[in-house]
Amino acid sequence: MKTAKKIIAVLLACITLFAGLSVMAFAQGGTQLKFNSDGQFKIMIFADNQDNEDIEETTTQIMTEALAKYTPDLVVFLGDNTVSASYETHYTAIEALLAPTIKAGVPFALVFGNHDQEGVNGDKEALLEMYQEIGGELCLTTDAAPEIYGCGNSNVTIFSSDGKNTAFNLWFFDTGSTLVLEDGSRDGYDYIREDQVKWYEETETALKAANGGKTVPSIVFQHIIVPDVYKAIYSVELPFETDGYTYEGVTYLPVPSFSKYNGIIIEPCSPSYYNKAGQFDAWVEHGDVIAMFCGHDHQNDFQTVYQGIGINNVSTVGGSAYHDDISRGVGLVTLDESDLSTYEYEMIYMFDLALEEGSQISEVEGGRSKFYYRVVKWFRKFINGVHWVITLGKAT
Ligand SMILES: [Fe+2]
Repeated sequence: MKTAKKIIAVLLACITLFAGLSVMAFAQGGTQLKFNSDGQFKIMIFADNQDNEDIEETTTQIMTEALAKYTPDLVVFLGDNTVSASYETHYTAIEALLAPTIKAGVPFALVFGNHDQEGVNGDKEALLEMYQEIGGELCLTTDAAPEIYGCGNSNVTIFSSDGKNTAFNLWFFDTGSTLVLEDGSRDGYDYIREDQVKWYEETETALKAANGGKTVPSIVFQHIIVPDVYKAIYSVELPFETDGYTYEGVTYLPVPSFSKYNGIIIEPCSPSYYNKAGQFDAWVEHGDVIAMFCGHDHQNDFQTVYQGIGINNVSTVGGSAYHDDISRGVGLVTLDESDLSTYEYEMIYMFDLALEEGSQISEVEGGRSKFYYRVVKWFRKFINGVHWVITLGKAT
């Protein structure tokens, strides 16, 4: 009997080890991330650079100065990273985008947006290879499950500061591009597919099993926001259907309820009209996701919480595609391993960086005067103040 028990114990140990190794094997490429000795881990987010090989000098300067000031442990490129006409020029555009991060020696991960694939006939696999080749060991993104929809769906784990266990997990999903229907017509943006959600569910379950049955808390990064945002912050339902703003049969007035978010929403959120796979519901059911971060709507810089999960839209870092100077900048997430049920998030605005002593943002091509950035800062404060008054202090 004792021998049988020993055999079962050895078998169970092997299964647990195998599950753990499997998760690690398809989790990431080079560098293993780890919380710092002070228990913190900082993630800097660059959204929607959406620029070609002649990257805006101000964009490079924003990234350089933000990296130097906040010294993140990881950079995430949140999609619509580059736009260009050919494989060759995409390569140069990616080199230009990655330059400040590589120079700072910071590991990075990425998701693709709806525009990245333009100019290469949708060949995101080739683009990912470029990131891996240019970034080398610093590039953590792999196409972890090439058989499922999209490219670059993956997860990256972060070890505890003592290196003993997996403390946190980062998910990366490809939200696709334009949705093309069977008859060739287009219908808004693509949607997260069932196989992507199934991959998430299976991988989360394996991570949990490898962590002794304890859920590994996580954050999601993807380019396009979840359709559930309409339920979260758009309160007024219309009694008729329109061409846009209809999600799962419900049409919303595209004006958000001011009391339901912090920050600013300049353009109506633009998720897919379809929610067939129930991605957000799967996060709620599994209970590991504490927040999601998305870009796509360049001028939106807001945070809300829905069903216990933070939904954060990071405004653009880029100066070439549409943007405004009251929200342009980079996102910064700070995790503390003493409590990973929560996180800190702030936008680092271009106007604040430009007003720092020694900043070169005003000096490079495309930069504006310090006086201009002071006026922009004042205007942003005024908008925040109005929001604060309207919502009786809820808004920051
Ligand atoms: Fe974009």
